[in-house]
Amino acid sequence: MFDLKIIGTGSFIPETLVTNEMMATIVDTNDEWITSRTGISNRRLSSGEPTWYMGAEAARKALAASGIDALAIDMIVVTTITPDYYTPSTACIIQDELGAKNAFCFDMNAACTGFVYALDMAGRYLSTPGINNILIVASENISKIVDYSDRSTCVLFGDGASAAIVSRAQPGDSSALLSTVLGAEGDGGGFLVSRALDLKHPFVADDKIWPDRFNHTAGHFIGMAGQDVYKFAVRSMSDSIMKAAEKANIGMDELHYIVPHQANSRIVEAAARRMKVDPAILIQRMQDFGNTSSASIPICLDEMIREGKLKRGDKVAISGFGGGLTYGAAIFVY
Ligand code: ACO
Repeated sequence: MFDLKIIGTGSFIPETLVTNEMMATIVDTNDEWITSRTGISNRRLSSGEPTWYMGAEAARKALAASGIDALAIDMIVVTTITPDYYTPSTACIIQDELGAKNAFCFDMNAACTGFVYALDMAGRYLSTPGINNILIVASENISKIVDYSDRSTCVLFGDGASAAIVSRAQPGDSSALLSTVLGAEGDGGGFLVSRALDLKHPFVADDKIWPDRFNHTAGHFIGMAGQDVYKFAVRSMSDSIMKAAEKANIGMDELHYIVPHQANSRIVEAAARRMKVDPAILIQRMQDFGNTSSASIPICLDEMIREGKLKRGDKVAISGFGGGLTYGAAIFVY
């Protein structure tokens, strides 16, 4: 257990709204197929904003909600699989945007599980002296790595960013990070692939360059083995949440909400049946936003907090699963 309290959240949702009907004008698909297979009706795509900008806007809102000064932030971690630069990191750019001069900064890639990994990391850093406030930003421009001629992937994804400021909970606070369960299955890496740079320089012959580890032929565009990812997602989501509840020594019926990664409503519903939980506690917002990778969980949390749905003292499980393959769950008291 870690003394961790979420003291402010904020999101940036780009304006460009793309409906299922609009997707059907660029690939051979239709609203009925997409809605029944995924639960997604609309997604928002970047209107030209870079990843750093979306993240910085989300962070500004989180900072305003928290009431703390940017100079009080000790660490900035950005989760993204779609940074604008290899260097500087997105976190360094956001530090500059906010004037958070006292923070150390880095980006972290755990694909769609990024926010869960970052929350775990924040709990651990906050348990050491000298670190009091951490900014976690999840910012994703997935449209940059989506092939809009591939109907099996392009209908699934959206862009967006969300941020949370987490601080050390004070004595008397009910807020805490009760447990985390993180994991990875590298042997499933080939199920979800987007390639980075090619291996080329003036002193290597083309025929010496190694073939792609995953036989991925689409370069930086996402390639996905949909049914393998589906099975992994249902299993890892349910197993990790149940393990996290056991670790936290609470019953599944004590959870007020489960906020899963918003990949696909069928995944979420199948996992809920495996966990035997009341579907009413599951948060599902993929209908309006699509799959925004690591941003999907904090976008939901921010919306719940702003709507007054999530109240202090509520017990929440979050669960991420995605490329890597990675998975993770965390249970916290808000
Ligand atoms: N519109 C119409 N038809 C389509 C579309 C589309 N957008 N996409 C695929 N199809 C067709 C296929 O071509 C195929 O046609 P065929 O039978 O003539 O060959 C048919 O639909 C069935 O294709 P499948 O891939 O078998 O469809 P499936 O029922 O598995 O659904 C889906 C695909 C929704 C991607 C599913 O596999 C899934 O939910 N997988 C989980 C993956 C996921 O959510 N990934 C998100 C990113 S990863 C992450 O965030 C963890």
